[in-house]
Amino acid sequence: MKLGLDGKIAIVTGGSKGIGRATALGLLAEGASVMLCARGIDALNEVAAAAGDARARIATIAADLTDGVAIKRVVARAVEQFGRVDILINNAGSARTGEFLKLDDQAWIDDWQLKFFGYVRMAREVLPRMERQGGGVILNVIGAAATNPRRSYMIGGAANAALNHFTKALADEGSKSHVRVVGINPGPILTERLLKMRTGLTPSAESAAEAFRKMTPLGRVGTPEEVADLIMFLVSDRAAFIHGANITIDGGYTQGLMG
Ligand SMILES: NC(=O)c1ccc[n+]([C@@H]2O[C@H](COP(=O)([O-])OP(=O)(O)OC[C@H]3O[C@@H](n4cnc5c(N)ncnc54)[C@H](OP(=O)(O)O)[C@@H]3O)[C@@H](O)[C@H]2O)c1
Repeated sequence: MKLGLDGKIAIVTGGSKGIGRATALGLLAEGASVMLCARGIDALNEVAAAAGDARARIATIAADLTDGVAIKRVVARAVEQFGRVDILINNAGSARTGEFLKLDDQAWIDDWQLKFFGYVRMAREVLPRMERQGGGVILNVIGAAATNPRRSYMIGGAANAALNHFTKALADEGSKSHVRVVGINPGPILTERLLKMRTGLTPSAESAAEAFRKMTPLGRVGTPEEVADLIMFLVSDRAAFIHGANITIDGGYTQGLMG
């Protein structure tokens, strides 16, 4: 299937590792130009090196997306470098696991600052540009915890539920100017983040391989490349009629009807 992403300009937040990295490399392979941001410059440089022949179509910027000023800087830099923004992939996010009574206000505020407000602020920054251009696509990488509440992951699960709502409401806003908005809800995906979180989610004596086998009905966790493939389809014109949907990719982890 030809995706037609050749010549498109994308911003990928949290593009130096995991799902963001796989998506950035996938978009480059499809002929898009990509602005990558994350906090650590070394990992960003590593992705740029991995881009090979596509090196001229990648730009990187170190930015902490808990900071609204940094978000404006990332978008301005993308426009300066590539002239426009066709695709925003809101992906940089993380939230801690933990017991409810041990998580104070600051823990909730700190984690929502990136995973919820980072997505909202980034969308608010690109939407007017996309409107002026006559269209664009905003894709939010959210998480299956949105529809699978667990006591051990309340901060992230609640942020994900809010982002599922935000995706649908922003799609309503984007409709009038041809800005398509889609969310995806990944289940467990084998990234640095999952490896770090595992101890909070599974008995620590268990081997990682054993824990990962039990995490989904398919008996394995997903790969960043599997998620990147879904993202590339969804941001392409092949998915032009998918708007305001939150799509699950989780190996069957979600049992309810809403995911
Ligand atoms: N992996 C899973 O199982 C899973 C499941 C459901 C949802 N998700 C969601 O998928 C997204 C990607 O997760 P992942 O597993 O690919 O994560 P990852 O491998 O840990 O990568 C996270 C990326 O975000 C960047 N980042 C972290 N904090 C940042 C900040 N304050 N400002 C800017 N960049 C920041 C990281 O680079 P620096 O550290 O250098 O900043 C890195 O590039 C997240 O939103 C996560 O919630 C993941």
